[in-house]
Amino acid sequence: MSRLSCASTLARKQPYTFIKCSRRNESTALHFYQNKQLELYASKEPKPMTLRQLVFFGRSMDEDRLVKSANYVRTELPVRIAHRLRDLQKLPYIVVTQEGVAKVYELYWSAFEKFRKYPPITNLQENEAFCEFLVKLLDEHATVIPNLSLGMSLSSPNLAPDELDTFMRRMLVSRISRRVLAQHHIALSQVFAGKHKPWDSSEPNVGIITTGLNVKASIEKCARLLRYQSLDAEGNADTPVEVIVEGDIGMRFSYIREHLEYIVFELLKNSIRATRLKQVGSEAPLTPIRATIAAGDNAVGIRISDQGGGLRNQVQHPSDLFSFSHIRNSTRMEHSRLGSLRTASSYRKGVWATVDEQLENWKRSPDPEKEAGVGKHSSMGIGLPMSNIFATYFGGSLELVSLDGYGTDAYVRLPKLGTNLEAVNF
Ligand code: COI
Repeated sequence: MSRLSCASTLARKQPYTFIKCSRRNESTALHFYQNKQLELYASKEPKPMTLRQLVFFGRSMDEDRLVKSANYVRTELPVRIAHRLRDLQKLPYIVVTQEGVAKVYELYWSAFEKFRKYPPITNLQENEAFCEFLVKLLDEHATVIPNLSLGMSLSSPNLAPDELDTFMRRMLVSRISRRVLAQHHIALSQVFAGKHKPWDSSEPNVGIITTGLNVKASIEKCARLLRYQSLDAEGNADTPVEVIVEGDIGMRFSYIREHLEYIVFELLKNSIRATRLKQVGSEAPLTPIRATIAAGDNAVGIRISDQGGGLRNQVQHPSDLFSFSHIRNSTRMEHSRLGSLRTASSYRKGVWATVDEQLENWKRSPDPEKEAGVGKHSSMGIGLPMSNIFATYFGGSLELVSLDGYGTDAYVRLPKLGTNLEAVNF
């Protein structure tokens, strides 16, 4: 039997052989026989949201609305997970049993079962228990991205680049969407219960959405954090690289701050590294990086420009840096990268620290790499693909333009009106 055959086809045609040859992960194989419920949920259409809907719904909370929100999350998440489980089942067998992918499959299957069996929420007390259930699941799933990236990197020779990238895009966008819905509901519940006051934050917010997000402040925060990073191989981290923020510096809009800051942090990190590398051994001051904010009618634009030499021969086309395929991006199967992914796959906390958490960690310890896993993060090679996914989640974009030998411009465009649906492909 070809190990490249589709697992779900196998399950239908040759159940016995399939179980026998699935020693590497028997329980993964067994789930293919419990597909009835999965089919039922995967046949349902998910109900994507806009940012504006999330804000409007969360703005005035009462018990009834909170219970409605809880039940939306309870019923919506298993539908979204079911679609992704089906995607996993459609992968070649050799891929779904790959280290990392099998782990994600197990996590999703278990979460699907838990959600499916969770009874309806009818009051605040039950909602509190539901929030605890969500927090636990969010934590259990903290290592999904490194596990998936590891598994798919190892599987890259078995999948065509388009197939691999489409699969990863669906998995990652869907994951962001599920975490957004879960975290938004938890945040709304906490505010309602008086455990977390919205005015604790210097910026107004509804749930996890900051309704007056100060773009300049976020860029400066990322630049400040990066100033404290020790940049291992490149050395001279003592010489700061200046980040000049210009353009529409008063710009504020409604967005998920962690998403904006993840993107800006990654882009600035790459620009700083390139700038340092270009000027190794030079006495001249390091050329500054310019972050320009543009307030368009429908979108907020951010351009990050460096003079770090451009993307040179890293990839054939800059967008290949977003690819998970080793054919488009040869670094995908590098030994050191796979090693970092393996380490991160078994981390419990810290790998996915937000910029705020990283700053907090830095304040507590002068070594943010150890505390927040940012150093590990930087060598996993998932910063750019993830930034691309974050940018496009609500219909924005990320584009890299290289002026080879001179520098790189990264263009981020994020929708300003909040009227786009989540870009989840079902
Ligand atoms: C994920 O993080 O992958 C999730 O699906 C989270 C969800 C189970 C709350």
